[in-house]
Formats: sequence, C-alpha cells, structure tokens
Amino acid sequence: MDLDIDFVRAQFPAFTDRSLKGQAFFENAGGSYACEAVIDRLTRFYRERKVQPYGPYEASRLGGEEMDEARLRIAAMLGVETDEVSFGPSTTQNTYVMAQAFRQWLKSGDAIVVTDQDHEANSGPWRRLADEGIEVREWRMDPDTGHLDPARLDALLDGAKLLCFPHCSNVVGEINPVAEIAAKAHAAGAHVCVDGVSYAPHGFPDVGQLGADIYLFSSYKTYGPHQGIMVIRRGLGEALPNQAHAFNADTLYKRFTPAGPDHAQVAACAGMADYIDALYSRHYAEHAGAAGRAAAVHGLMRRHEGQLLQPLLDYLAARNDIRLLGPRRAEGRAPTVAVETREAGEDVAEALAPHGIMAGGGDFYAVRPLAAMGVDPKKGVLRMSFLHYTTRQEVDRLIAALDHVL
Ligand SMILES: Cc1ncc(COP(=O)(O)O)c(C=O)c1O
Repeated sequence: MDLDIDFVRAQFPAFTDRSLKGQAFFENAGGSYACEAVIDRLTRFYRERKVQPYGPYEASRLGGEEMDEARLRIAAMLGVETDEVSFGPSTTQNTYVMAQAFRQWLKSGDAIVVTDQDHEANSGPWRRLADEGIEVREWRMDPDTGHLDPARLDALLDGAKLLCFPHCSNVVGEINPVAEIAAKAHAAGAHVCVDGVSYAPHGFPDVGQLGADIYLFSSYKTYGPHQGIMVIRRGLGEALPNQAHAFNADTLYKRFTPAGPDHAQVAACAGMADYIDALYSRHYAEHAGAAGRAAAVHGLMRRHEGQLLQPLLDYLAARNDIRLLGPRRAEGRAPTVAVETREAGEDVAEALAPHGIMAGGGDFYAVRPLAAMGVDPKKGVLRMSFLHYTTRQEVDRLIAALDHVL
C-alpha cells in the first residue's frame, strides 16, 4: 500500500504556512516539522493547564493525566512497559545522566565498547568513563564505506559490561542491525545502549523486539516538541544507581531524570501517538494494538522514503565531483544523505537556499565519524535529510538545485 501523502501533509501546518511557501525542507535530521496534534496539545496545555500537575483541582488533574497519557501511549507504541519510558530535556542530557549512573556502577578495570560512528551524544559521555579507570574500546567502522561490521565485535565484547552504538548514524545513514548486535552483546554479558535519534523519525521501532536495554531518541525529530525520550528496560534501570531525588528512587521513570520535567512538552508528546494512529486509521481498517499500528505505519513510511531516496542516491553516486557517504542502495539506509563537496558543506547549503532548498552543512556533531572517514570536520559535509512527508517533486527540485550549485 502507498502512503497517502496528501493526508500526511495535511497533518503538518508548516506545509500550508505562507512563510514557508516554496521551501523544500531537507534538514529533517536536525529537527522535523511538528504535526498538528502536537501543536494543538501544546497550545491547549499552555492555555488551559499551565499549572503544577497532579493536584486536586481540574486544570492540574487534566495536565497530569495528559502527561501520563503521553508516557503510556509512547511506551505502548515502542513495545515496552509504561514506566520504562523517561522524558528528559534532550538525548544528549539523557545520555549524560546514564553515563553518570554507569560511572558509579562500574568498577575500575571494567570495559565498555563505543563506536566511531556515533554522534557525540552517544560517544563523549561514555568515553569520559576512562577518567574512572574504565577501559574504553572502540568499534571502528570501515573508513571508506562507514559500515560497522558486527563480525568485528566478538573480540571487543570479551568481558565488556556495556556496548553503545547508533541505530543509524546521522551522517552515514546506514541502519545497523540492532537486534543481531544486541543479541551478540547480551550473549557476551554486556548491556546495550542504542542511540535511535537518527532512526526513530523514519518509524517508531519496537524496542522490545530490538532488545536494547537503553534506547534513546529526540521527539523534536519525530514530529513532536523538544524533548529527549529514553527507554530503560526494568532490569538495568533498577540495578543502576538512582540519579534523581532519593525519595523518587522507587519510580523507574524518575530514576534517570534528575530535573523536573517540562510538563507541557511531555503532555504534547501524546500528539505523536495521535499522529501515528491517524495515519494507521487512514490506511488500514483492521483493529491492531499500539505496537502493531506503529509497525504498520513504520512500513508505510519506509516504503515511501525508499522510493524517493533511490533516485537521489543514484544522482549523487553518478557525480564524480562529490563523495557520497554511506550505502548507495536505499534498502538498509535512512534518507539522511551526507556528501563531501569541493567547497565547505555550509557554503553549498547556503548556495542552495536561494533555490528554495532548506539543507544544512557542517559536522552535525558527528566530528568523530567524519574524521574517521577522512573528511575534515571543519570543512564538513552537505547533508540532505528527508522524511515520509517529503514529496517526489521536492526531491526533483533538490536535484535540479544541486545541478546549479555543485
Ligand atoms: C544521531 C544523533 N544522536 C544524538 C543527537 C543529540 O540529540 P539531542 O539534540 O536531543 O541532544 C543528535 C542530534 O542531532 C543526533 O543526530
């Protein structure tokens, strides 16, 4: 079944806003447009419920209920228990808190494995555990292709307590086989922390099936408000030392979010579930549970994205004046496409802007992966990233604009 793209775009006010008319958006890996359901919920919270939640009066009760609804429905989509989902200010901050918990939990001489494919958010905080005498091993990608080979993991995992890796890198775009890697890590006795920030916008995954112990993503890239969402599976979450107020230690979803939550934004995240459910009802008549609906919508999104991505990859791969990072086939990769150009990435992005193309240039905090692939992070890359709401015409316009500026 094909995605009903008109229905999809009707759910995003940005596509009809006069200020954005004629602009094709290709910096979605930096942050997506927000869907109407999220904007409505956020606005309603600010207008009607902007009080301390969980109190005895109506506005407060409704605010608290809506926050609970967001956690419950997102957890159900992700195939995990409600209290295994935590909200925090950002993925970077969530990772930092988790690294603090591991700092207390691990012992000097213990080993962890990190990659050179990760965004700094899932790399730097873990590497700093070396200050505590933790051995930090690096799972390196192929410097030409950016591929992370699971076969190389066996030796690295020997005796390791934790493996951190991305579901998909924000510059390489290749989707890593999380379930296979997580199974390997678990068999070796290591816990698994997956950065899903670059993957989740292309379809909410069933985290239960993937087998990650920690799975992080950022809702401002999944059509929602600016939050970091983190799944921490119960076994690990209860074993790691509490990072919140001591009296909150018994509530799993509070243990790793020391800050008070942004009530309105947490509540508005329920709008992401509204959106997935609306897409499901538009395309399917059968009844399905939340994870089943998310899986079906995930499939629709990936199919649409793949159809648009292959022509772009073919175009880029055929040019000999640029270097395309990551796989050349749409299967197995996200539509997050970085290229090294003759000029600095930022300059090319700037040249695209007058053509109505919103794209980005720079290092995207993927300094380590770029350096590992031989790209000077200061020169950076041009990154073109899109989502299921992008149209074929927009991709055609991007290609025509690239023809002008490259
Ligand atoms: C792959 C990846 N991981 C982590 C992050 C950090 O997310 P946040 O901005 O929520 O801290 C980003 C942000 O761009 C990212 O692309």
